[in-house]
Amino acid sequence: MPYPPAIEASLSTIWSAPDSLARQQLQAKPFIAHTVPVTHTVSTRPGEPLIALAPRTQAIHDALSLFVPNGGAGRSAVDLGCLEGGLSFELRRAGLDVLGVEGREDNYQRCLLLKAYYAALGGLDFHLGDVRDFRPGRTFDVVVCSGLLYHLDDPAAYIQQLGALTSGGGLLYLDTHVAPEDCDLAESVFRPNLSAIKTGTMGGRDVRFRTYEEDVSLPESSIGNRQSVWMDTPSHLALLHAAGFHRVFDMSGYYGADEQGLKRRYHRRYFAALKGVV
Ligand SMILES: C[S@@+](CC[C@H](N)C(=O)[O-])C[C@H]1O[C@@H](n2cnc3c(N)ncnc32)[C@H](O)[C@@H]1O
Repeated sequence: MPYPPAIEASLSTIWSAPDSLARQQLQAKPFIAHTVPVTHTVSTRPGEPLIALAPRTQAIHDALSLFVPNGGAGRSAVDLGCLEGGLSFELRRAGLDVLGVEGREDNYQRCLLLKAYYAALGGLDFHLGDVRDFRPGRTFDVVVCSGLLYHLDDPAAYIQQLGALTSGGGLLYLDTHVAPEDCDLAESVFRPNLSAIKTGTMGGRDVRFRTYEEDVSLPESSIGNRQSVWMDTPSHLALLHAAGFHRVFDMSGYYGADEQGLKRRYHRRYFAALKGVV
């Protein structure tokens, strides 16, 4: 990854001589999904590959270097539904000033441990709250909405909110599920939880979607709604345009030759959406 040398130097110093109390506290709380380095050789999830190496993280780094001046260094970022802060850390490592927003107290506590551990680096902060209520009265150069939109009950309204959070000329990186078409449903790993295709008006637009039954006991699931909405790809694109994202790039190529097969089973899309480009 093309991380700024000054940040790598700062991280290397932390990894070589960590604050022992902050390290002890960080490692005492098991992480459930995000494998973040703790030292040069130890991570928050021993034996798991670092989040930096995940294909989806590489897509975020590509989006930064392709669409944000200087790869994002010195810019502001918000990471919505940040879980335990692994992608927030990666954004910080790329040189951005990052705020992660998380709605679950337990996840948020792990974020705070990460922030404390990396206090000497700075530029990494977290906010506890529902993303739907997050209206900070400012915009961000980079908005990361990863694994979140399809957990919401009104993703159409939330795309409007994403538009309001993104600075003019800024980047929205949207990693989300789209509703599979009927021809792909038989292969879908999510089939038991997905409804038939429906149409309706959301956010003032006609939207095609399936509803999804959430397992709200999971730490990565929805908050406050047991049923979420998975929109189809054209609905996402129309709503993004209406929210001010006039260029949207569908990023592929991160999962090798069978990527299209994976998309038929998982319906996952990585969109890089640029605000206000006309
Ligand atoms: C599937 S995880 C994705 C985590 C992370 N963004 C990633 O891509 O690895 C969804 C995260 O969003 C959080 N979340 C879900 N609904 C939320 C809401 N309405 N407000 C705030 N956080 C929410 C969950 O607690 C969970 O941490």
